[in-house]
Amino acid sequence: MKFFCGNSNPCLGHDIASYLNIPQGKAEVHRFADQEIFVEIQENVRGQDVFVLQSTSYPTNDHLMELLIMIDALRRSSARRITAVIPYFGYARQDRKPGPRTPISAKLVANLITGAGANRVLTLDLHAGQIQGFFDIPTDNLYAVPVISRDIKAHYSTENVVVVSPDVGGVVRARALAKRIESLLAIVDKRREKPGESEVMNIIGDITDKDCLLFDDIVDSGGTLCNAAEALLGKGARSVTAYITHGVLARGAVSRISESKLKELVITDSIQPTVNIKQVHNIRILSIASLIGDAISRTAAEQSVSSLFD
Ligand code: R5P
Repeated sequence: MKFFCGNSNPCLGHDIASYLNIPQGKAEVHRFADQEIFVEIQENVRGQDVFVLQSTSYPTNDHLMELLIMIDALRRSSARRITAVIPYFGYARQDRKPGPRTPISAKLVANLITGAGANRVLTLDLHAGQIQGFFDIPTDNLYAVPVISRDIKAHYSTENVVVVSPDVGGVVRARALAKRIESLLAIVDKRREKPGESEVMNIIGDITDKDCLLFDDIVDSGGTLCNAAEALLGKGARSVTAYITHGVLARGAVSRISESKLKELVITDSIQPTVNIKQVHNIRILSIASLIGDAISRTAAEQSVSSLFD
């Protein structure tokens, strides 16, 4: 078994390699003057079970292209099996046609990864579970819930906690967390009563004097979270914390979060946090290295991955 790491998340790569107690595979990624990517695998991988870690996070297209070229180089080097380990699968939000004459880019990206030569995919909290079906190769979608629920139990007394889905679309995900920590569930229902009128936030469920834990897959601009936090506190919540798997944190999100009423935003390192993010007083980062490491070692040993979540 060999473990290679692209440039999107070297810290997570280092932590996974340490957890698995294996050296990282040697590969060089170069850029030509016109920014074309060139990859050189610097050790023998013939007949090996190879794992390549790369989140397709910002700069998304560069990281995606680097992943595709690494897979191609490994395939041409006669690796026996190539698993693309993609903790954050960019383009996942483009999983359907939002209107006529628009693409389904998540499917296109799945085709590219398969076409490059990946034999399996290992990913985490896909924006929509059905994206697994966009791949015609085995795809394991891991869940950050065990890591997150451990952290919640260490920081909160769960009798006073309510897990809150920040929108109706996230209810299934939030319910799974609520079930795991044996807490109540609430939902923020955003509604625009008439075109041109501002959105009304209705809260479904009892959150009075509760510690609300917003749970979602992605924080991008932070708008969804900050608006939900305002609405929950306005309706009598005691505190609002957000647990989010993927900290995209673009478009002014960091200052929006630091100035918000959120007690804390807890994200994972599926996307490598910037120095700026690490310095924000109310943002904390959980490591998913052991979760991904366990999934890799089970895949290599042909053992069950789903039993990680029992
Ligand atoms: C949307 O369906 C996702 O689950 C997130 O709620 C969304 O991407 C968050 O975006 P933002 O932080 O920009 O509000």
